[in-house]
Amino acid sequence: MLNRSLKILAGTLVSAGLIYGTASAAGEAEVLHWWTSGGEAAALKVLKDDFAKNGGTWKDMPVAGGGGDAAMQTLKARIVAGDPPTAAQIKGPSIQEWDDEGVVGPYAIDSVAKAENWDALLSSQVANHMKCDGFSKYCAAPVNIHRIDWFWANKKVLDANGLKMPTSWDEFNAAARKLKAAGIIPLAHGSQPWQDATVFEAVALGIGGNDFYQKAIVDLDMDALGGPTMVKVFDQMRILQGFTDEGSPGRDWNVATGMVMNGKAAFQIMGDWAKGEFTNAKMKPGIDYYCLPTPSDHGYLYNVDSFIFYSMKGESKIEGQKLLASLMMGKNFQKVFNLYKGSIPARLDVPMDEFDMCAKGSAADLNYSAMTGGLLPSFAHGMALRLAQKGAIQDVVTEHFNSDMSSQEAAKRLAKAVKDSM
Ligand code: GAL
Repeated sequence: MLNRSLKILAGTLVSAGLIYGTASAAGEAEVLHWWTSGGEAAALKVLKDDFAKNGGTWKDMPVAGGGGDAAMQTLKARIVAGDPPTAAQIKGPSIQEWDDEGVVGPYAIDSVAKAENWDALLSSQVANHMKCDGFSKYCAAPVNIHRIDWFWANKKVLDANGLKMPTSWDEFNAAARKLKAAGIIPLAHGSQPWQDATVFEAVALGIGGNDFYQKAIVDLDMDALGGPTMVKVFDQMRILQGFTDEGSPGRDWNVATGMVMNGKAAFQIMGDWAKGEFTNAKMKPGIDYYCLPTPSDHGYLYNVDSFIFYSMKGESKIEGQKLLASLMMGKNFQKVFNLYKGSIPARLDVPMDEFDMCAKGSAADLNYSAMTGGLLPSFAHGMALRLAQKGAIQDVVTEHFNSDMSSQEAAKRLAKAVKDSM
């Protein structure tokens, strides 16, 4: 009994960040991230405030640009210069890729993860993404799980046009044609490489199915990459392109979300950080907008936001890393942060009752997909592939989307680009 109380006390101290000493010794952290949209910034503020409340000194290092491509360039430059930030937003296999470069160990946050028993708080899939040194030590902390394959829609626009949320790609195409004829932009899109890739992976999952996605996009099977199913995926991409407006090239994702909010456009295909924008504008699902997964056979493309902690010199920075990691995995933090961010908690024990219907649906679907083989990593958001292969696919997808390249040619180029990148 006494032992148990001591453990609870220790747990409370750790989660409050107090175990790392007095406020003045709580550490400093320069945090590199790309969370600059309204919803993203509101979510990040929860972490900044928590850090400050626990005595930490936060130095903000934002690099604007959805999807983080620009942030990754800045990060690379900093590391090459031998000056990594204390913590950086980074995801998936890139975490292990940096570890291979020898700039992450000796993994200061692993002691925090062990003391707080992160292995028991996370699914093994999420936990493994956070580990270095042959998946044996924590070197990154997860804050959420985003789902990629979503339709977001303006409810008033759909209602006014007698439309329901589409449950097949054909239904979507038919609805979009009707909207276009009525003078409404069917699909709000920003044609930046990562946004084209975001739409592409939802289409690949839906048109090709779970096994196809796994084979082509995760296992990089050449026949799947260049074969007839991939041709069909590109056919649907071409159809979607016809539903975007002239202003689409280069548009930021949150500007596209704004077009759905104000009814200029009907739909957006985007991860659920889009919901963070609706939430930030005080709009409610089911009342002002709809969320529904894009059509697939119970597939679920996941994207776990996490922060990596590089090898650091200086006690204050190391303390800052430990405090940040502990706060990020805090139970209440994971609730509040994700209410703003649009995602769901990475921790398995956070109650979902305060979350909205989109988040509840996401959590239920995630469990179902995990059991039935449809839980798959997002390539567009860096969860599936290392950077070279991710870049190879993204380049072809965006080139196809922004030209009149045929589907056959795109599939052929896709296989070749991946092969050349290996
Ligand atoms: C994703 C990231 C999300 C969101 C989005 C747009 O890669 O995981 O948290 O911020 O980019 O910037």
